[in-house]
Amino acid sequence: MELINEESASELLQAQTHVWNHIFNFINSMTLKCAVQLGIPDVIHKHGKPMTLSELVSALPIHPSKTQYVHRLMRVLVHSGFFSQQNLNGVHSQEAYFLTSSTQLLLKDNPLSMRPLLLLLLDPVLTEPHDCLSTWLQNDEVTAFSVAHGRTMWEYASQDPRLGNLFNEAMASDSILVSKLVVSRCKGMFEGVNSLVDVGGGSGAMAKGIAEAFPHVDCTVFDLPRVVSDLQGSKNLKYVGGDMFEGVPPADMILLKVNSCCFYVLISSSYAYIPFIDKKTN
Ligand SMILES: C[S@@+](CC[C@H](N)C(=O)[O-])C[C@H]1O[C@@H](n2cnc3c(N)ncnc32)[C@H](O)[C@@H]1O
Repeated sequence: MELINEESASELLQAQTHVWNHIFNFINSMTLKCAVQLGIPDVIHKHGKPMTLSELVSALPIHPSKTQYVHRLMRVLVHSGFFSQQNLNGVHSQEAYFLTSSTQLLLKDNPLSMRPLLLLLLDPVLTEPHDCLSTWLQNDEVTAFSVAHGRTMWEYASQDPRLGNLFNEAMASDSILVSKLVVSRCKGMFEGVNSLVDVGGGSGAMAKGIAEAFPHVDCTVFDLPRVVSDLQGSKNLKYVGGDMFEGVPPADMILLKVNSCCFYVLISSSYAYIPFIDKKTN
């Protein structure tokens, strides 16, 4: 083997570190998921002040044989910026944990909580397809999801109520912030609009925000029958079940929200793409 000089040794070390970091990247998401499942953000929030490790351990449903590992879990989460630490000066000075602004977004009771989205996207049903990427690229399956599960995500969600509910809850939580932004920033878009249909509108979080802010607009949430069949509308909001590939109810404005980063709007014959911050109209 060739001798390595100092310069190439440090380059090699950096390259190795790069590989190690990528091998273990999943630890960041999995420790965060673990903290959310154990309710750590909510427990610290409820405590009302920075919480010491022993206080945290006794407030959590941890098996007595595992208490020593909570410290390790918290170290990873402090490192990744989800908790901060403060030294509590006393007879025995102790470190105590408090929430960061990112963890505030994972609280159960925060109306803008991303908790349902995190629990959906890190559910094994949705992480498994990522393990099938190389297979998917080598065969003719349409999605990596169907490589992993032998059916589309919509079929899976219709057959597994746990995933279906998790999915609908996650989509709704994602839409709450966006509907607030649309209502405050895109008011002008609703001038002269009397009816709107939100295609693939899920449980209607987006349309509800619009219906409340613009009572003159008749809103329709259009989604698969199993998603909307049990949902109750209001004075200017109704749910219609169907398949968007067969047709959608007519309206002055058609909304198609893909995720919190962008959505599409069709107003009569004009079309607007709203990439969350910037607005480009064609
Ligand atoms: C990515 S989610 C977006 C949900 C919602 N627009 C939002 O942003 O929160 C896609 C939605 O499309 C619905 N969907 C999937 N296939 C559909 C179809 N063929 N016809 C109508 N809706 C469909 C799903 O049930 C789901 O609610």
